[in-house]
Amino acid sequence: MFPQVHSCEDSTGGSDLGMVGAARWLAPLLDQVRRAAVLDVPVAITGETGTGKELVATALHRLSRRTGPLVALNVASLSAQLVESELFGTRRGAFTDATDRPGLIEAAEGGTLFLDEACELSPAVQSALLRVLETRRVRRVGDREERSARFRLLLALQQPAELLVRDRRWRMDFWHRVSAITIELPPLRERLEDVPLLVNHLLSRMGRPQLPREEIALALSGHDWPGNVRELLRVVERALFEAGDGPLTTSVLRGAVQWPGHRPLNGNGQLGRAVDAAARSAIVQALVDAGYRRSAAAAALGISVHQLYRRMKALGLTVHLGV
Ligand SMILES: Nc1ncnc2c1ncn2[C@@H]1O[C@H](COP(=O)(O)OP(=O)(O)OP(=O)(O)O)[C@@H](O)[C@H]1O
Ligand SMILES: [Mg+2]
Repeated sequence: MFPQVHSCEDSTGGSDLGMVGAARWLAPLLDQVRRAAVLDVPVAITGETGTGKELVATALHRLSRRTGPLVALNVASLSAQLVESELFGTRRGAFTDATDRPGLIEAAEGGTLFLDEACELSPAVQSALLRVLETRRVRRVGDREERSARFRLLLALQQPAELLVRDRRWRMDFWHRVSAITIELPPLRERLEDVPLLVNHLLSRMGRPQLPREEIALALSGHDWPGNVRELLRVVERALFEAGDGPLTTSVLRGAVQWPGHRPLNGNGQLGRAVDAAARSAIVQALVDAGYRRSAAAAALGISVHQLYRRMKALGLTVHLGV
């Protein structure tokens, strides 16, 4: 369980579900989650890696008031044949080594079955699952007997389902059956105002003092977070490790980001990188000292505002304060 997040006026009340973010996107998403949770239809949760799909799946189960368990399977981790026997169970003799055993569908009776990385579901399993959803009965592999299958299906997808259908990886009938309710999680680069909220959320969870939001935004600006929230959380953990017993500073935070091939302003050599790093910290410091007024920061640095903008851009220092 996550402790309560410090409330601030532009973040929203998803803390009971462990979700932090700006109200602009999180409020409608939470509303969707709360309304979808109590329905008895499948839900597809889409979003890039690390955007919170599993968090949403857990929230949907917790809010569903179902008494059964949440049972999860990562489809990408097993071969298609194993996925089938894991999900449906087996009857002894169905194939070599097969024993009498229930599958995860039976285990999820009265609860939720969460299929992670569901893009990888084979057409054969899609069609078998479709039948289970239609009839609410399941048959173990190699068995004739049918058993009750009353569970709620949740699917996590890193790609939009339309693409899977277009590329013929997903059957059209399966897609129609499971995508009536689709919850889309935006990538972190489209909600950069969440970066300071998430950093402070993690700091407070770890019992560390929070940092001013503007300073976090500036220190981490210029990165587009391909690993989304998961990547950001790892950056904070790395920074806390680097800081050791000392306070976490914004320059340590910035140093913890693994910047992808950023083209250095002063050449790719050791000297060029050192000059870039020094220029970045001088600019960040000047902006902090000037209360983020760029004209005052430029004056302190002895350059024009126009030059400051140009330098910041070249050094990957874009400011997304989101407020
Ligand atoms: N809005 C959020 N608020 C707080 N923590 C979040 C938020 N979104 C994601 N996280 C955290 O980020 C991490 C990654 O989230 P999660 O595992 O749900 O991502 P995912 O979309 O399932 O990724 P993948 O596709 O790689 O499996 C988790 O530690 C999760 O708790
Ligand atoms: Mg996941």
